[in-house]
Amino acid sequence: MIPRHLAIIMDGNGRWAKKRFMPHSVGHRAGAQALRKLSEEIEKIGIKYLTVYAFSTENWSRPEAEVRELMGLMREYFQQYIDDSKKNNMRMSFIGDHSRLDPDLQQKLGILEDITKDKTGLHVVLAVNYGGRDEIVRATRKLAKEAAQGRLDPEKIDEDVLSKMLDTSTLPDPDLIIRTGGDLRLSNFLLWQLAYAEMYVTETLWPDFTVKELEKALYSFQGRDRRFGGRP
Ligand code: IPE
Ligand code: IPE
Ligand code: MG
Repeated sequence: MIPRHLAIIMDGNGRWAKKRFMPHSVGHRAGAQALRKLSEEIEKIGIKYLTVYAFSTENWSRPEAEVRELMGLMREYFQQYIDDSKKNNMRMSFIGDHSRLDPDLQQKLGILEDITKDKTGLHVVLAVNYGGRDEIVRATRKLAKEAAQGRLDPEKIDEDVLSKMLDTSTLPDPDLIIRTGGDLRLSNFLLWQLAYAEMYVTETLWPDFTVKELEKALYSFQGRDRRFGGRP
């Protein structure tokens, strides 16, 4: 079985650059390139959804110059994805709170979502200014507003109702979460949605993560016994 939905914490760009005595920005650029290449392979394998962590709500705490570089890189790559959309079948959408992004960047996200919404190939979901806790807080706020306006009975709130308020409301939960760069943590990624995802961590740094590495992760996934709390 291949996962229907793969999620990736693309970590290690900084260390990749440091090893080469290069600035962070070079690592981030190599990371963006790695995603472009890998998403084509992921589409060929037949995975339906790919959700990747591009920028977390905590990443604003990095030096201003690095944040600026990351925003610039997103601008450039999203434009490339817009240009590519004519010749490929990938759908792209975004999760996270985009109100803090520059208006022109927000506009690019909107355009990409709009022009790819009817594509039937791999659905790539980019998490930009995304935090799992922030997403749950925003969902809770929406529910509280509906309840306060008398449109929602608080007793009717269950897991489905809350799921429908999340940024991922239309997506199935990830089956497999891969983290590159070796750290054994979630760093606030998809806290709700990863409840029963299988985990795979590799020391490989994100810009070095190739289809060969992905195959290793998929092979590991195939050997897992997913019990979902039951007794098979
Ligand atoms: C991940 O690479 C990309 C982002 C967080 C935007 P890092 O920049 O965190 O790389 P390391 O962890 O410092 O190596
Ligand atoms: C997670 O990586 C966020 C992204 C990959 C975008 P970080 O490098 O920000 O995570 P921590 O700080 O090591 O937990
Ligand atoms: Mg990191």
